[in-house]
Amino acid sequence: MLNNLRAKILSFQFKSIRRFVIFFLSKIPKDLERAIIFGDSLNHLIMITPLRYLFKFSIPSNIKASLYDLEFESPLISASFKDDISSLLQWQLVGIGGVTYKTVLKSPSVGNLRPRIQEVRYKGDYAILNSLGLPTKGVKKFISSFVSKKMTNFNRPIGISIGGKNPEEYFEVFKEIEHHLNSLNYAHFFYEINISCPNTSDGKCLSDDLENLKELLLKFRNTSSRIIVVKVSPDSPDNDIIEICNILVQIPTTAINIGNSKYVRADKVGLSSKSFSMDGGGLSGKNLYGNTLRLVKLVSSKYDIPIIATGGVSSYDNVRELLDNGASLTGVATLLVTDPFQIPLINHRLSSD
Ligand SMILES: Cc1cc2nc3c(=O)[nH]c(=O)nc-3n(C[C@H](O)[C@H](O)[C@H](O)COP(=O)(O)O)c2cc1C
Repeated sequence: MLNNLRAKILSFQFKSIRRFVIFFLSKIPKDLERAIIFGDSLNHLIMITPLRYLFKFSIPSNIKASLYDLEFESPLISASFKDDISSLLQWQLVGIGGVTYKTVLKSPSVGNLRPRIQEVRYKGDYAILNSLGLPTKGVKKFISSFVSKKMTNFNRPIGISIGGKNPEEYFEVFKEIEHHLNSLNYAHFFYEINISCPNTSDGKCLSDDLENLKELLLKFRNTSSRIIVVKVSPDSPDNDIIEICNILVQIPTTAINIGNSKYVRADKVGLSSKSFSMDGGGLSGKNLYGNTLRLVKLVSSKYDIPIIATGGVSSYDNVRELLDNGASLTGVATLLVTDPFQIPLINHRLSSD
């Protein structure tokens, strides 16, 4: 009861401060990234002081979910979109059941030119359009910094999202990370393979060549026994998603994540070339939900593959509906930046089902 009230007050304050920061930092010239950088620094300050305990909510013990042998205290996990430890720590404190790191590539890259992320309205709903272009520290730097005691103290699963410009690069990144994970005395990891690319410069993805995908997954499987999740794009035709499932059912301990952000042209969401450096980008937020649910139903009606449902999840009703229709876990990204205190409120409602 008291925790719910605290979550509601914090949610109101968080949303007000966020609007204030966006108003002052991201309007002229329009660039949401300035507000994000400021917000991340503020969050980092909070996370290194005792103020972080304001964010701490326990997870009710009766809402556990699992993915093969990995146990999640809550079915809500963070989708792959950030790699700064302070953000991941904040979400664990509010009650996320597991976290997924932003996609890591072999070599460092700064991604696309700014402005490359903006708040937009799409079909009446708030949404984010991003064409970050997978900025990454590169695998070497990632390995040297990604596991912190503060994170592993939560004892919750950690997903590592892997990307690449070609199958060889994916495998190199995978091998380096696997080698490192084998040297740790923390075992709650899973891999996620990001095969979609709504905003890479050449538009080529692993999802364009499913033979390559199958070969690569088999190589991964022969190298590691950890869970491998394949994250698909909502832009893929249903037939391709079915084909991917046909591959996954042949490879043990795999799962599907449905899915990534959806490609939309910048001018379709009211952005001029001055406020968005690319022709379009990946749209995320509430408007994706209908298609996420449709794809979850499609896959769960035909296959016995664990599903992580990501895309537009923003409420208890969404989470309940996805779980009832066959999802094992639900991933959230936009909700964590707009209103992370919904997580304890959703956890609480799930516990009363
Ligand atoms: C700023 C931003 C960066 C993202 N980066 C990645 C990424 O590196 N890898 C990935 O698989 N998905 C990435 N995503 C997609 C999210 O993981 C998620 O699939 C998508 O946003 C839909 O979920 P949502 O509606 O809850 O935001 C990113 C999304 C956003 C908004």
